[in-house]
Amino acid sequence: MGQTTERGRFIVFEGIDGAGKTTQIELLTARLQRAGRRVHRTAEPTESVTGGLLRDALAGVSKRTACEMAALFTIDRVFHNVNPVNGIEKMLAEGIDVICDRYYYSSLAYQGSETDAGWVRDMNINCPEIRRPDICVFLDLTPAQSMERINRNRVTHEIYENEERLERVRRQFMTAFDALRDTDRIAIVNAARTPEEVHEEIFRTVAPLLGI
Ligand code: TYD
Repeated sequence: MGQTTERGRFIVFEGIDGAGKTTQIELLTARLQRAGRRVHRTAEPTESVTGGLLRDALAGVSKRTACEMAALFTIDRVFHNVNPVNGIEKMLAEGIDVICDRYYYSSLAYQGSETDAGWVRDMNINCPEIRRPDICVFLDLTPAQSMERINRNRVTHEIYENEERLERVRRQFMTAFDALRDTDRIAIVNAARTPEEVHEEIFRTVAPLLGI
């Protein structure tokens, strides 16, 4: 009889731009690896052809409607799940934990605030090839705090980065979490603290899911 590999865990990070996802993903990845876990880091939009179309649109190089964006993000997400080389499903099946920078919560928040939110939700949530994460960690920051960090750290701005819009997106994240509260495990973490403090809270939240 062959040994059955325990599936990896699927952890998603979300937050409005500037909330510190990259730093927190790095800290958690290193921490899980130190605890002996194998970890695959990934992000959306992906490196797929569709991901390239999305990045062009996000940078303002090409113009897309909100529905086009929602549909393209969904295609990219299906590919992200099922891609046989390093897709989410394959990694989890091999016992590798997957940490993903943004997922369908971003579609519900960003595209959901620009077009029919119910359509965006259903297209993602009802898709049999888009897996639900074990946990979504939302790094919460007010839009003013977020803009302050963005202006400090970056020279170029994406189309979604201005305070009024971030406020709308943050509200839309909260609405999405509310709509998913019976099905998805969501941890809202106050990100306006030192990276170490934020990390400790995240680690304490995810560790029990991993049995560490
Ligand atoms: P990127 O710079 O790649 O990542 P981040 O801002 O997290 O460092 O930008 C991703 C952008 O894509 C971000 O502005 C949010 C947006 N986005 C959506 O609008 N919908 C989605 O479904 C996803 C995954 C991202």
